[in-house]
Amino acid sequence: MTDPTLAPAPAHPAATAADATVGTPPAGVAYPKTIKSFVRRAGRTTTGQAKAFEDLGPRFVLPYTAAPLDADAAFGRSAPLVLEIGFGMGEATAHIARVRPNDNFLCCEVHEPGVGALLKRIGEQGLTNIRILQHDAVEVIDHMLAPACLDGIHIFFPDPWHKKKHNKRRLIQAPLVAKLAARLKPGGYLHCATDWQPYAEQMLQVLGAEPLLANTAQGFAPQPEYRPLTKFENRGLRLGHGVWDVVFVRRH
Ligand SMILES: C[S@@+](CC[C@H](N)C(=O)[O-])C[C@H]1O[C@@H](n2cnc3c(N)ncnc32)[C@H](O)[C@@H]1O
Repeated sequence: MTDPTLAPAPAHPAATAADATVGTPPAGVAYPKTIKSFVRRAGRTTTGQAKAFEDLGPRFVLPYTAAPLDADAAFGRSAPLVLEIGFGMGEATAHIARVRPNDNFLCCEVHEPGVGALLKRIGEQGLTNIRILQHDAVEVIDHMLAPACLDGIHIFFPDPWHKKKHNKRRLIQAPLVAKLAARLKPGGYLHCATDWQPYAEQMLQVLGAEPLLANTAQGFAPQPEYRPLTKFENRGLRLGHGVWDVVFVRRH
């Protein structure tokens, strides 16, 4: 029987010419039709997060719609646009938005308490340059982001999906990276970080094989100064774990 997850994805108005060619895997490799990179985790939304949803959700959470996003309208200003995929509890996101007030940050996360936590930080820190999409980033990329609309992309500590049989759920694989590259402006950057070495190596390999992208470093990159050390990362470093940053730019 044919595996339904290997069927070709339907075309969409926001799809690019590059998208049409990314579904061709190397011999012997089957890319899934779409990546299911997350599981819906249980988790309690605290009273503070619920209040932040109520007070700030209408201004900062955008509805998901299968139509290209008008970012200038969504942010109420025109500024460089950075997409973040999977912000977790939003600690790094809020920090970066604070130290880069001249950029707009479009941030995707599916975990509801995480969205509440970032809204709470937005309120506490008076941030105005973040908009949240509580939706699968893969669908956001496919349906809401036009070609060459992004100045940057952040993917920090994506779920590593350690087990071999789950590796196909990793975000950083050739078809999605080709779509991301197509949505970057020439000169725009893609910054990934991970504490799982095999995934770090996969990032280097997959990004290195994408014709639209060029590495900014020889191999792994020094940690860019805007990316803070989060609580999670500090704990890992104390335990002797490594962290790898990978930064590529879209060729002109
Ligand atoms: C391991 S956590 C890392 C969170 C954060 N970036 C950090 O550094 O602490 C990965 C996060 O990505 C989110 N995620 C995974 N796949 C996603 C997708 N396709 N769209 C939106 N969020 C996603 C998960 O819900 C999870 O919160």
